[in-house]
Amino acid sequence: MSNRTSKKNPDLSRSNPERFTSAGFILAAIGSSVGLGNMWKFPYITGKHGGAAFFLLFMICLILVGLPILLAEMTIGRGGRGDAATSLYNLTGKKHWRLIGLLSVLCAFLIMSYYAVVAGWTLHYTVESITGALFRGGDDYRGKFESFASGYWPVFWQAVVMLLCGWVIAKGVSGGIEKFNKILIPGFLAILLVLMVHSLTLPGAGQGVEFFLKPDFGKLDAESALIALGHAFFSLSLGMGCMLTYGSYVEQKQSLGSATLAIGLGDLLYAFIAGLVIFPTVFSFGLEPGEGVGLAFMALPAAFSQMPFGFLFGGLFFVLLAIAALTSAVSILEVPVAYAMHNWKWSRKKAAAVISSVCFLVGVPSALSVGGVLGAFQPGGKTVFDWFDFVTSYVLMPIGGLAVTLFTGYAWKRAGEEAGLSGFWYKIWMFLIKIVAPILILLVFLYSVGIISV
Ligand code: PFF
Repeated sequence: MSNRTSKKNPDLSRSNPERFTSAGFILAAIGSSVGLGNMWKFPYITGKHGGAAFFLLFMICLILVGLPILLAEMTIGRGGRGDAATSLYNLTGKKHWRLIGLLSVLCAFLIMSYYAVVAGWTLHYTVESITGALFRGGDDYRGKFESFASGYWPVFWQAVVMLLCGWVIAKGVSGGIEKFNKILIPGFLAILLVLMVHSLTLPGAGQGVEFFLKPDFGKLDAESALIALGHAFFSLSLGMGCMLTYGSYVEQKQSLGSATLAIGLGDLLYAFIAGLVIFPTVFSFGLEPGEGVGLAFMALPAAFSQMPFGFLFGGLFFVLLAIAALTSAVSILEVPVAYAMHNWKWSRKKAAAVISSVCFLVGVPSALSVGGVLGAFQPGGKTVFDWFDFVTSYVLMPIGGLAVTLFTGYAWKRAGEEAGLSGFWYKIWMFLIKIVAPILILLVFLYSVGIISV
């Protein structure tokens, strides 16, 4: 029995014939990794935790933990030629690995349910900005966001996202996912560069660049290291079977090592430019930077409202956010869809339709919990939205990441062969996967759930 076959599934490549082209795969993987994390989290945590010093730390985490796991996920996917659960089983023939993989599938399904809600907000803001409606009726952008989020429109936009993602996925790997990313990701870079040039030429832009990049090694501490590590993980879309599932569509001849480097660099570059768009804009108008919702939907609209052609730059910015969110959302939805196709023998179209519909229903309470009718329902002090986020990002994703390291390092003996690594690089990869990554993931996990503090 070779490493790529099991008794039950003797020809894995035939059991899963869908394929990306080489460039299509890199773009789709960059599309998955470049998401809201790059746009509204990374710039802020960088600015807050020491600028260029934090950037350096983030790069170290990316290299020590992110890239080795990214390579491992893609290698398992291509070796096993299945979804996040089936691949683990195909490569070992052991049922418990299928169960462990199933956790990642569940994680992706739950993330998708609320990621679609946020992606929906970006669509709403795109429309509002381009039509100029966002900038009418005063400049209380907090109030505007709250009144939007507490109504029923978020459910409508969430449905639009689900329909769109379901449609892309139903069209298949090359005809849907690849095409979607091939159009959007280069467009994304073009818009990002236009916005960067514009924001760097605003008066007082230098202050923003300083906030983002001025190195302050004094701000680096154990907490910033854990934050950098957690973000490296989230930013590369690891721990929930996403890169594993995409990896199962990669051609045998493609070099996974080069793909890993390209995806890592792409992720870093987009995050870096996002910072150069956001802070000069925010600082130029004397606004407070923040992260997440406050930055994207409150601070930036206030800045756009004050600049010439603000509706246009605002519109471009929200298109950017929407693309970032949608290309990531498609990759998340593909995880449970691939599972349903392999395990329940559903057609791609049926799987896409049923999973996106059920995922939509599961996400409705999240959509209604950010100030909406379910806003006051907060068991344990967290809204439904926050609970979904907590359980997936802080519990299921680290478990998924840990599982990938243990699988690649200890359970599956021929990962190096599939990854195309031997000698020095193989030894380095195994050292990181067997020892460094599991220990660091465990630390982040214990910190996130509050078992250790620093
Ligand atoms: N990497 C995405 C971001 O930075 O926003 C988020 C994400 C996408 C996480 C896909 C996990 C995933 F599977």
